Amino acid sequence: MKETLRLHPPGPLLLPRRPSESCTVAGFAIPTETQIFVNVWAMHRDPEVWENPLEFQPERFLKESTKWDYSGNDHRYMPFGSGRRICPGISLMERMVPYAIATFVHMFKWRLPEGSNLDLSEKCGIVLKKETSLIVIPSPRFSEPELYH
Ligand code: HEM
Repeated sequence: MKETLRLHPPGPLLLPRRPSESCTVAGFAIPTETQIFVNVWAMHRDPEVWENPLEFQPERFLKESTKWDYSGNDHRYMPFGSGRRICPGISLMERMVPYAIATFVHMFKWRLPEGSNLDLSEKCGIVLKKETSLIVIPSPRFSEPELYH
């Protein structure tokens, strides 16, 4: 889940910020009331921070699981943002996403339609979407239909 959120953060530019006072960040002068977008999509692929940044390697989070959390305190990895506008849905997501994925995988076998390939390319915007919708075919794993009730 963490690796998916690293490579494909649903909110790639977070929510826009607008400083109430002029300030300087990393040497850049930011005049008051300027609209700022923080590009976490690019930060999550920074080769100075991530080894083989374009590769899907979930185990990178297992090695040092305490190093990378998404509490907003580590500015190299923040799929839920940071500071006073950090996503308030984190604890709901932590329960619902693993539950939904585990249920899908437990109850069905999944396959791609004949002749199609898995295409993970994405379309960037305020919300990150897949460029082409994923079509998958489920088939039941359980022998008894009552088990699906
Ligand atoms: C994988 C799931 C989710 C992701 C990746 C996500 C990501 C984000 C991000 C990046 C922000 C902007 C934070 C910032 O700019 O610092 C945000 C804000 C927000 N999220 Fe989520 N979110 C998720 C799930 C949820 C859920 C389940 C809820 C509520 C049920 C929720 C409610 C909100 C709200 C209300 C805000 C605006 C907070 C504010 O402006 O103060 N999110 N989320």
